[in-house]
Order: sequence, then C-alpha cells, then structure tokens
Amino acid sequence: MRRLAVPAAALTGTLALALAGCGGSGDTKARLSVGSSYMPQPVSADMAAGFLTITNEGGTKDELTSVTSDIAGEVTMHDTVGGAMQEVTSLAVPAHGQLVFKSGGNHLMFEKLKRKPRRGDTVTLKLRFANSGPVTVEMPVRSATYNPSTGH
Ligand code: CU
Repeated sequence: MRRLAVPAAALTGTLALALAGCGGSGDTKARLSVGSSYMPQPVSADMAAGFLTITNEGGTKDELTSVTSDIAGEVTMHDTVGGAMQEVTSLAVPAHGQLVFKSGGNHLMFEKLKRKPRRGDTVTLKLRFANSGPVTVEMPVRSATYNPSTGH
C-alpha cells in the first residue's frame, strides 16, 4: 500500500499542474466549431431529423440551449436513452470535447416543416448557447439512407 501511495501522489501533482496550465489566460472561453452536419431527406412531409458535431477547443464547457431553422416552425433536441428518445432542453458541450449528434444517439428534430427538404437542398440552422454567441450552420440534405460512416 505504501509503495502505491508514492506514484499516485506524483500523478496527482502532474494533473494539478496540467489543469492549472489549461485555465491560464486565453483559454478560459469555449471555442466552438460545427462540422459533419447533414439531414437525411425525410420520409414524412412534416418532420425531419438532423445531425452534426459541435467541437469545443476551449477550456470551458458550454451548453447548446436552442436551435432554430428557416424551414421548421420548431426544432427540438433529443437524446436517446435505452433505445427511447426523449426531448431535452439543453445539451452540454464539454471543454476540449465534442457534442455529437448521430443516428441512434442525440439528434435534432425539425417539426412543423414549412417545405419538405429534398436531397441537394441546404437547410439553415441557428444554434444558440448558454455562453458563446450564436452559430449559423448550412446543413446539406442527403439521401434518406445516408450514412456518414460509409459516405452514402
Ligand atoms: Cu427524436
């Protein structure tokens, strides 16, 4: 036991130093970027799903608090727990981490569609955050069966 205590203490010291370095000036804000966005062409005329990845290169977490779009009366955020989706009012974007929306996990639901998105269209979204300014996303509409891991 006493032999283990020494390296554990050394590790804690290293971590504390690393964290102090992280919190230094210039790294106290979230720095967000959005990639890998797509909407599968919806089967239904009044509802569509959307996926994207929000990357935070900053040292402070943020929270996605609302999403709006030109084509939908309402955009809601959902997560998936045990195979069942549920609406949530916000989703965390961790410091030095990602908030990932993907099929079978977190997703956006576009409701009260004003027009049916078709493959090749681009849908405009506005993401709003607890701390960072809003981010506009041009989301391409892909085929109904598009899978980003295979590219089609
Ligand atoms: Cu849903």
